[in-house]
Amino acid sequence: MSGVGPATDAGAGPRGAPTAVVLIISGPNLDRLGTRQPGIYGVALLADHVEAAVRTGRRLGLTVEHLQSNHEGDLIEAIHRATGRCAAVVVNAGALSHCSWSLHDALAAFEGVVVELHLSNPAAREPWRHTSVLAAVADGCIAGFGGLGYELAMEAVARLLTRSGKVGP
Ligand code: DQA
Repeated sequence: MSGVGPATDAGAGPRGAPTAVVLIISGPNLDRLGTRQPGIYGVALLADHVEAAVRTGRRLGLTVEHLQSNHEGDLIEAIHRATGRCAAVVVNAGALSHCSWSLHDALAAFEGVVVELHLSNPAAREPWRHTSVLAAVADGCIAGFGGLGYELAMEAVARLLTRSGKVGP
């Protein structure tokens, strides 16, 4: 497990107002990005993607926290801890996206915004990747855009939070 806690020093917005906290959750094997099947997942490290999300979040007035774990229970407990504290969860659960009803249930109980994220486009890959058990409890899914997806996910979070009146003008 790595990366618990704020991935940025941000804690206050441009006018000193507290920023909304976004928890990025990275599931099994995403710690291997950079060397893991680069033809599919690219050569950037997970830390590079998180940094892109932090940069985007800073521009949008969002504070990013990040947790990567290869263990399902760690991810579930991170979602439990996010409840009442984080405005949004961005989740790339790796292969757990396709089979973890426990993660589904944890996200179903999270009251904030949920964005499902994938570097690749699972719908264009093996049939077992075509189903996401998390899709039904996510506000939406960003897939197939590689590292750009982390920036797009932060944009989506900001728009959804603004629309719901939780942050922004
Ligand atoms: C992934 C897609 C999943 O099918 C796969 O198991 C992963 C990564 C993606 O980001 O493209 O581990 O979530």
